[in-house]
Amino acid sequence: KNLTIGLIPADGIGQEVIPAARTAIEAVGSDIPSLKFVDLVAGFETFTRTGTALPPETVESLKEECDCALFGSVSSPSRKVVGYSSPIVALRKILDLYANIRPVVSAKQVSPVVGVPPDVDLVVVRENTECLYIKQEELRVTDHGKEARATRLITERASRRIGQMAFDIALNRPRQAMIHKSNVLSVTDGLFRETVRAVPDIEPKYQKVTVMEQLVDSAVYRLFREPKVFDVMVAPNLYGDILSDAAAALVGSLGVVPSVNAGDNFVMGEPVHGSAPDIVGQGIANPVASIRSAALMLHHLGYIKGANRIDTAVDSVVREAAYLTPDLGGTARTEDVVNEIVKRI
Ligand code: NAI
Ligand code: MG
Repeated sequence: KNLTIGLIPADGIGQEVIPAARTAIEAVGSDIPSLKFVDLVAGFETFTRTGTALPPETVESLKEECDCALFGSVSSPSRKVVGYSSPIVALRKILDLYANIRPVVSAKQVSPVVGVPPDVDLVVVRENTECLYIKQEELRVTDHGKEARATRLITERASRRIGQMAFDIALNRPRQAMIHKSNVLSVTDGLFRETVRAVPDIEPKYQKVTVMEQLVDSAVYRLFREPKVFDVMVAPNLYGDILSDAAAALVGSLGVVPSVNAGDNFVMGEPVHGSAPDIVGQGIANPVASIRSAALMLHHLGYIKGANRIDTAVDSVVREAAYLTPDLGGTARTEDVVNEIVKRI
């Protein structure tokens, strides 16, 4: 069977780290017959050049031609730009990538980064399609000044399928923590909590998973104080976004944390970090998050051997100070890290 991978570096250091991920996949090419790459464009730079952040040809190719994709990062302006909306948010919707899965793991045994606990090993499973990110915002001017409102959507369907995805992952790990704030938002978070909690009633194989609950604020606190208590954390979109970046801080740098956006028919690897404008073009972006995202994507598609070969090489390189980029306290350059990973693969 052919495997066609769409490559969307998008903005900033995405242009530096997605080619690195491609190189790593090519290095395990013998485990993946008929490997093909398709170069695709999207992002803010594409928007300023063409007037759209997500050209129809990109969407078409992903739907018709590609089995999966790797997405770099977008530079989103923090002010509203007329006509611009984030292509990654749109792609999650168009391809129905309803789960964002982010494993956060310290390098085994010794963590190279000072002050980082060596025993973090958890997966954040974030709902990817609704919550506050449906972007229904409105601004009104009242007698007392401006007033802004946002709508938050939580559905039983989306909560159930993210619950199932999380329980599936939790089958290989002892505990599942549901993260919510239903003490305050009893209707929306209440529905999420109730629906995820009911998943093992529908599918008895999940009943062996120990379920715990944690309010989102204290979840962040515990994540920093005793990360070992968490295995799988399932959360609505906004909480999941914040938790996964917080968890990334525990392992030293956003530059090492991978993710996949997964649906029933498509999977897209994506490093957790953004476009890193402060270091773009310097050749020092950490390629590890993107290379691990590639491995996670291959794993999700069933190319277990190739995925494991990449992960093993990355883990061994990250353990050595000689191959750490500046975000991890080292002096290595992107290409040094990539070359070493490829050599070990
Ligand atoms: P960021 O993740 O781009 O950068 C945060 C800090 O981490 C910076 O100091 C950066 O240099 C460092 N960093 C991130 N990735 C790194 C890597 N691979 N190697 C070494 N250092 C790395 O987040 P920030 O600065 O908040 O956002 C910058 C832009 O990225 C914004 O336009 C934002 O909208 C966008 N962004 C896009 C995301 C996406 O595409 N999914 C996610 C987060 C932010
Ligand atoms: Mg984020």
